[in-house]
Amino acid sequence: MADAETQALATETPVVVTTIAGVREQIERARAAASSRSHGTDARVPVALVPTMGALHDGHLALVDRAAEIADVVVVSIFVNPLQFNDPADLERYPRDLEGDLRTLAGHGVAIVFAPLVDELYPHGDSQTRVTAGRVGTMFEGRSRPGHFDGVLTVVAKLINSVGPQRILFGQKDAQQVFLVSQMIADLDMPLAVEVVETVRDADELALSSRNRFLDARERRAALTLPHMLEAAQSAADRGIDAVIAAAQSAAMGEPLVEVDYLAIVHPETFLPVDDDYRGPARAIVAARVGATRLIDNAPLYLP
Ligand code: PAF
Repeated sequence: MADAETQALATETPVVVTTIAGVREQIERARAAASSRSHGTDARVPVALVPTMGALHDGHLALVDRAAEIADVVVVSIFVNPLQFNDPADLERYPRDLEGDLRTLAGHGVAIVFAPLVDELYPHGDSQTRVTAGRVGTMFEGRSRPGHFDGVLTVVAKLINSVGPQRILFGQKDAQQVFLVSQMIADLDMPLAVEVVETVRDADELALSSRNRFLDARERRAALTLPHMLEAAQSAADRGIDAVIAAAQSAAMGEPLVEVDYLAIVHPETFLPVDDDYRGPARAIVAARVGATRLIDNAPLYLP
């Protein structure tokens, strides 16, 4: 890319569109402009989508920056999806700050922000047709939040249909979401690929999350229990599953502000809990309530 173009991208602010027709039109324009610049020598895909619910932080920016590396046109969707909240109070208090999000995105190579109102995506109230997440969708996060993953998959399918990307990017922090979206794309023969970006962590290893802003100073310290549990699990991996679970559980003991919801070791290909004598790659997943805030985290393991 020429220097002037690089500089233009570094300072640019995305175009904000709120309708499906509008996002399709803007993508056509942005694609036409990109193809006149690329001279056909570029190996990148035409369009990448980063779906978000806003309250953007460095974890989202890692997705956006990766999208800008692999696609000519980067679309970020910002939509707090009512279908995936089973607790109305949680939906109500979810942080919303479009202006702040646009400032965060400026200079990151995003062409379009798609920020529809609820009526645009669900003009007849809650959509009657849903994508169901199947068995894994009812486990772990899905057990604590019934219907959550059907809501996630339904909105992700709608966003894919609205934007038509060749790549969609998700953070590894939401490991179950990554698994279920990948499963949906494979099962429904959707013509795009998922790109997963590593979890971004603060210096003390707490995974970045839009919910961290709800933690007070004591809770913020207590929240480190999640990465500590995962580190303990990884350190015990060569002693087998029982030792992994015991080590992770003991890392959570004595922290009164933390109530562990689940801790599991799952198979990377099925996302189902592995057997006690399992050997091979796995993922430790954990969810806990820290004060009133529910946090999740995960880490890879290898059981030799
Ligand atoms: O991970 C999220 O922020 C949401 O679940 C998503 C993928 C944007 C769907 O609403």
